[in-house]
Amino acid sequence: MLHDGNKVIDESRQGEAIMTKTSESGERKLLIESYGCQMNFSDSEIVASIMGEAGFSTTRDAEAADVVLINTCAIRDNAEQRVRGRLQFFKNLKKTKPDMVVGVLGCMAERLREKLLEQEQLVDLVVGPDAYRDLPNLIGQVDSGQKAVNVLLSREETYAEIAPVRLDSNGITAFISIMRGCDNMCSFCVVPFTRGRERSRDPESIVREAQELFDQGYREVTLLGQNVDSYKWNLTNKGEIKDPEKETVNFAQLMEKVALVNPDLRVRFSTSHPKDMTDDVLHTMAKYENICKYIHLPVQSGSSEVLKKMNRGYTREWYLDRIAAINRIMPDCAISTDIITGFCGETEEQHQETLSLMAEVRYDMAFMFKYSERPRTLAERKYEDDITEDVKGRRLREVIDLQMECGAERTKALVGKTHRVLVEGTSKKSEDQLFGRTTYNTVIVFPKGDIKPGQYVDVHAHDCTSVTLLGEVVPS
Ligand code: SAH
Ligand code: SF4
Ligand code: F3S
Repeated sequence: MLHDGNKVIDESRQGEAIMTKTSESGERKLLIESYGCQMNFSDSEIVASIMGEAGFSTTRDAEAADVVLINTCAIRDNAEQRVRGRLQFFKNLKKTKPDMVVGVLGCMAERLREKLLEQEQLVDLVVGPDAYRDLPNLIGQVDSGQKAVNVLLSREETYAEIAPVRLDSNGITAFISIMRGCDNMCSFCVVPFTRGRERSRDPESIVREAQELFDQGYREVTLLGQNVDSYKWNLTNKGEIKDPEKETVNFAQLMEKVALVNPDLRVRFSTSHPKDMTDDVLHTMAKYENICKYIHLPVQSGSSEVLKKMNRGYTREWYLDRIAAINRIMPDCAISTDIITGFCGETEEQHQETLSLMAEVRYDMAFMFKYSERPRTLAERKYEDDITEDVKGRRLREVIDLQMECGAERTKALVGKTHRVLVEGTSKKSEDQLFGRTTYNTVIVFPKGDIKPGQYVDVHAHDCTSVTLLGEVVPS
């Protein structure tokens, strides 16, 4: 997960819309806005590539756009509301630009399908996450006066050979999708319905993409999947090898292959699932310095009973054992999490168990959310959403308050030490300062000198705010 410290986002994780680069040529212009998780941002880069092949150049300017594609998130109701606001904006804009094509991509497209076209008349085009290759064709249909929909989910599509067009890139850090979909069926979660079955991408194409990024000057890749620990590629898939046992690539092996691309290429990943995270993965992380010592391990709740109702596949004790394994194998590893407050039937005692688990683990960072019931999920069908908004909100505040305390304490513990930092750019607050990240994903700010983004430097942290380290470069 890429984030700046303890930012609390009670909707989509990476809520800021990204817009694409402007082109000078006179081709048809495409605006892509992305909402939701890193997967969606990564998918938008695949969409830009497919549309680029079809002759579209990208723009940031809504007024200049011939086609607008909104890549949407359905994870919580407020994520959807936000997108609806945006769609309304484009609907209004269309009054002055009737030829402009507006399309919905991603998880809301998959969830709402034709409804977006028929009942709500908000858009011209609805395309689910596995149908992006069909986009140029569907836009052709819209051009000829029809509405167009493709929300077919696939068991095979991984867009493996499509070279993403990096959008809004800093040229240093990039995402690589290693798998798609999710087979887990956590009872609160809409993702299995919007993203379909889990499938892994060919490791060769992943390593090739990492190598190409490195050759272009990138210095960090984040391997993305809803549950990276269940990554599995069987070489027999390609009909080449006949011994599946010997020829299976699991996540630990994939990560090793990517780490070996170059010691100067940092490797991160997201998201691990507590029920599947093996010691193998931890040993591989420990073995390679360029694999960042940071794990996002969403717990959701500290109560075994709630976890059971959430269908998470682990207990509090199992989760704490995984934390103990991380601390044993990599004593300095940073850990972050996701927490949901006010899940169906959550008692005050069960909420206290979440707080006590947090107090025990002392996370570096957390994403914290109020439970939001999602249509079609197991929880919607089976349990009553019976915790009031007030109680959900109060529990969320308690969780946030405790996390602020733990996060600040974890940041402080990094002061007085020297950190290897990958420099990412100029600090938002001052032109004379640069910022980069430690292996723990902590942002560190320091005076510029003659250092350039993309370089590695050793920075001594002499102070901190609650989430950011302040330092001085140590001459090498
Ligand atoms: N695959 C990742 C999670 C993706 S969704 C994983 O298993 O960890 C990101 C986070 O959104 C989840 O971890 C969960 O904390 C939160 N979330 C998902 N569905 C939610 C819902 N219905 N209400 C509130 N938060 C939810
Ligand atoms: Fe949703 Fe669970 Fe899959 Fe994560 S692992 S995407 S929370 S179903
Ligand atoms: Fe949202 Fe879909 Fe990601 S629901 S969190 S964009 S997988």
